Amino acid sequence: MIVLGIETSCDETAAAIVTGERRVLGNVIYSQLDEHKAFGGVVPEIAARAHLDIVEDVIRRTFAEADLTVGDLDGIAATAGPGLIGGVIVGAMTAKAMAATRNLPFIAVNHLEGHALTARLTDNVAFPYLLLLVSGGHCQFLSVDGPGRYTLMGGTVDDAVGEAFDKCAKMMGLGFPGGPAVEAAARAGDAKRFAFPRPMKGRAGCDMSFSGLKTSVRQAILDLPGQSLSGSDAADIAASFQAAVADVLADRCAHAIAEFDEKHPDGKTLVVAGGVAANAALREKLTGLCALVGFRCVVPPPALCTDNGAMIAWAGIERLRLGLTNGLDFAPRPRWPLAELEK
Ligand code: KG4
Ligand code: ZN
Repeated sequence: MIVLGIETSCDETAAAIVTGERRVLGNVIYSQLDEHKAFGGVVPEIAARAHLDIVEDVIRRTFAEADLTVGDLDGIAATAGPGLIGGVIVGAMTAKAMAATRNLPFIAVNHLEGHALTARLTDNVAFPYLLLLVSGGHCQFLSVDGPGRYTLMGGTVDDAVGEAFDKCAKMMGLGFPGGPAVEAAARAGDAKRFAFPRPMKGRAGCDMSFSGLKTSVRQAILDLPGQSLSGSDAADIAASFQAAVADVLADRCAHAIAEFDEKHPDGKTLVVAGGVAANAALREKLTGLCALVGFRCVVPPPALCTDNGAMIAWAGIERLRLGLTNGLDFAPRPRWPLAELEK
């Protein structure tokens, strides 16, 4: 089985061709960094136009890398939501047009399901597993029982953790995207200099909160002498912030693991997915936690944590195997929670 996956829900224009034997034959990602840099964040209208300009070229390069043609495909998958709707429409319409002209099945993939199933592509993880999904717009714990079968266990009550990384980076002038910038700055920083709060730590359940932490970072910057932020201040704030995030997520994970383990004693696996899972400090912290409680910790390689086409192609394969294809009238959705996904 060979499937093309197209991803255009945020600021990455990406495509990949993946096989049912878990091989990634072609994988091309165009990150719209220059397009959005001047604005310090993703501008939806600019993103949609950029996707439109580049998507065909990205797909062409993917076929070239895989040394395949459309005739070799068994299906075409695209992100159909959730995300910035202009971009989602570009990718979904491109996939539909290709599927229609070649009479191939079209698979409308939920972007979050793409992140959720990536660990099965990279590490062949079996269902059920506990998923910590941490991206720019989402931050939640889910029990994953199969494609389309997700149970929400807890989530952020305010900001997503990726959003907190992005906003802190912006406050410190570290640039965009914020996550990798904070991680890079933190490497030279002292994580003990600022005692940032650990919101929700120790609280029952596995909900999370990051907006207070963000406010503390703002306050720390305002409290600096002369309110001027040196390179080493930024490094120390980044390191202290990252340590607080890792600490809080490890605590929330411990709670989620206990809850999951009770319901699924045979699962014993934590999967961490989404852009923030690319963070090395977080990966290390959660791997350590899992070792302590007898869980396997699976975090895909960083390039498959941030948005990519391979995760969409793979989710397409999982769905195609189950006969879960979609009609060409499937409408792209800006909002599409995983727990509401039809099987
Ligand atoms: O999954 P993703 O690429 O796009 C969404 O679906 O949102 O996640 C993007 C988020 C951004 O907030 C970005 O700052 C964050 O993931 N991120 C990171 C790192 N790389 C990306 N956060 C922390 N450390 C990183 N290395
Ligand atoms: Zn994503």
